[in-house]
Amino acid sequence: MKILGIETSCDETAIAILSTQKDSDEETHFEILSNCIASQAQIHAKYGGVFPAVAKREHAKALVPILELALREAGMIQEKSGEVDKTRLEKAKEILERETGLYEDLLVFAKKYDIKGVDQLAVTRGPGLEPTLWVGINFAKALSVLWDIPLIPINHMEGHIFSVFAEDGNKNFTIREDMFPFISLLVSGGHSELVKVDGWGMYKILGETKDDAVGEAFDKVARMLGLPYPGGPEISKIADKHRKIHEKEEIGFPRPMMHEKSYDFSFSGLKTAVRYYVEKNQDDMDKSEVARAFEDAAVDVLVKKTVDAMKEFGSNMLVVGGGVAANSYLKERLIKELSDTKIFYPRSDLSGDNALMVAIASFYFGQSIPVDEIRAEGNLRIEG
Ligand code: KG4
Ligand code: ZN
Repeated sequence: MKILGIETSCDETAIAILSTQKDSDEETHFEILSNCIASQAQIHAKYGGVFPAVAKREHAKALVPILELALREAGMIQEKSGEVDKTRLEKAKEILERETGLYEDLLVFAKKYDIKGVDQLAVTRGPGLEPTLWVGINFAKALSVLWDIPLIPINHMEGHIFSVFAEDGNKNFTIREDMFPFISLLVSGGHSELVKVDGWGMYKILGETKDDAVGEAFDKVARMLGLPYPGGPEISKIADKHRKIHEKEEIGFPRPMMHEKSYDFSFSGLKTAVRYYVEKNQDDMDKSEVARAFEDAAVDVLVKKTVDAMKEFGSNMLVVGGGVAANSYLKERLIKELSDTKIFYPRSDLSGDNALMVAIASFYFGQSIPVDEIRAEGNLRIEG
């Protein structure tokens, strides 16, 4: 089966095509036919964060070109033969009514090309920014009616969990059925949660952030230090530099909720502590030390809660997902403190938002529903 996934929950416009083959009851073989991502990060960097209306406009501009690229890479596009179905086009037009310019782009595409071999469509329905989710959903709905292909709505966080099984540097990978239960640490710009995964689609949230997500805290601290958006990679870079030269940092920011019994997180107090420090020491602070002290505190909390959860549930498998999974210090600490645990990380091109994870998830959570019933859910949870 060939699945085309679409992702627009934040500031990446992504389309991927995945070929799947169920080898046996125990395992399924996958081949990545294309994995295309257009990042808007440079546009948002000017504003220091993502503005939903700007992001929505950029998604609308990028979707058709990215679709064409993904289909071309997968060898699943050809010059049009015959006429476009007028009734189907009319339905697509109705769906794309509110997405500026998108119907016009799709019309040009549909008159020029036929696609071949797509069996299933999948799209992120949440969580994320509602305006940007909607543009991806409406595009997917329009493709579904235009091509008469079923569409499956997907939870973005579920995608982040299962993206880790695509092995590094390889277009082919295999997913086994016997890996449950395991614990997942999901850390991104919108989420910080510890989840127990008991099976496909069976989740229990052990703890989650009470305020800011950890990626959001990275981005805000970066902004305080005058570093560009997205701040996570920038903080990580200068913090690593400081760590190489200095054994310790001297600031000692608080580690909110670290010693509480619950698995919940809180990063807003830490962020405020950094703000006070920066305001007070503006003239003679070492940015790399502040970044390092912040990262030390945030990572300490994430690692402590994760280690506790692994112990309590006697699990020896951990899946780390979401944009902050790219953080090298978090990785180093988890490996050190969980030496007997099999830790799965997304490969570097899949740690941020991508559509391949949406396609993978749709293979397992394959419930297509009528397009009229698919809605964006900005606050969609992984549980229940
Ligand atoms: O999963 P993701 O791409 O988008 C959301 O769904 O939010 O995560 C983006 C977040 C941003 O906050 C970004 O600063 C953070 O992941 N991030 C990092 C690193 N790379 C990306 N945070 C810390 N260290 C990194 N190396
Ligand atoms: Zn994400």
